[in-house]
Amino acid sequence: MKQTELLSASRPEDIRTAARILREGGLVGIPTETVYGLAANALDGKACAAIFAAKGRPADNPLIVHISDIKQLYTLVRDVPQEAERLASLYWPGPLTIILPKADCIPDEVSAGLDTVAVRFPSHPAAQAVIRESGLPLAAPSANLSGRPSPTTAQHVLHDLGGKIDAVLDGGPCSVGLESTVVTLACRPPRLLRPGGVTLEQLRAALGEVVLDPAVLNPLAAGAQAASPGMKYKHYAPKASVILLDGTREAYLSYVNSHTEGAGALCYAGDEEALRVPTVCYGSEENPAEQAQELFDALRRLDELGVSTVYARLPETSGVGLAVYNRLIRAAGFEVITL
Ligand code: TXA
Ligand code: MG
Repeated sequence: MKQTELLSASRPEDIRTAARILREGGLVGIPTETVYGLAANALDGKACAAIFAAKGRPADNPLIVHISDIKQLYTLVRDVPQEAERLASLYWPGPLTIILPKADCIPDEVSAGLDTVAVRFPSHPAAQAVIRESGLPLAAPSANLSGRPSPTTAQHVLHDLGGKIDAVLDGGPCSVGLESTVVTLACRPPRLLRPGGVTLEQLRAALGEVVLDPAVLNPLAAGAQAASPGMKYKHYAPKASVILLDGTREAYLSYVNSHTEGAGALCYAGDEEALRVPTVCYGSEENPAEQAQELFDALRRLDELGVSTVYARLPETSGVGLAVYNRLIRAAGFEVITL
């Protein structure tokens, strides 16, 4: 067991402490606008290997490298195509990760044996400050134990990784709440591997044709190769089994109220009063950005309800709704009942 130090993003000396730990090869949980990341020096294979050990992450799942200046991108990848420059000018800093063929400086631990690397320039001021102060690109997956919902507060990070990492930098709750959009420019046409705060509609407006990887909406067929290794693992799983109900609000309320045995509901604001089971609410029905912000905390709170089945409604698949849909359908192991 290590003593995990709790640092504050509002104290400049704590930013310096986080940067020093990272330069010395340690692990620090850092806030970003999407979710908290578990950061290490991206150019140090040994430090990155420690990320996998702390999270219990499968070794074939590559890491995203975080930068605080677009110039760093040119040192991490073999070539920066025009599409990457266009996306960076529109959406960096922000919740967008771009995959390109990797430069030789990227350790195998980061790329997990692939010949590409994922790069992101986060907008969170504390993330930028730590990257700048350390003088390093930082590899950082979400700072949860593998299989748990991604952390959106420093407390979530401590709950999963306290005693296993050197420090957590508390920067308050994350504003986007779901992990970044992942798009690969290493194939043609560009392909959306994971939906997030930058939407498919926005990517298409910037790039023209963008393919939606089938694994975003559907389970990976047995034996199929995942374009993004992270998509083949069960994800975001609360203890209770989650079942998605596809239908109107009225049909949802009536179904749940007639299946109350051992049940709970992951519902929209305003549904609580109409439900006769314990509830956890995650934003209002008309506001997918709010649902995104609250979903992972809601999934963690579900574990405290002590129920065995949780019913939620199938979200919309447009705009940020696609990202909410993608996380929720994985939490549900793709189990959907059409009402
Ligand atoms: O918002 C985020 O992206 C957060 C914060 C901390 O930046 N990070 C994050 O990292 O969500 P992680 O490791 O939990 O998810 C990264 C995803 C995984 O599904 C991984 O398989 C995929 O990106 N990925 C990373 N490098 C890749 C590559 N070279 N090719 C294909 N997929 C890649
Ligand atoms: Mg993750």
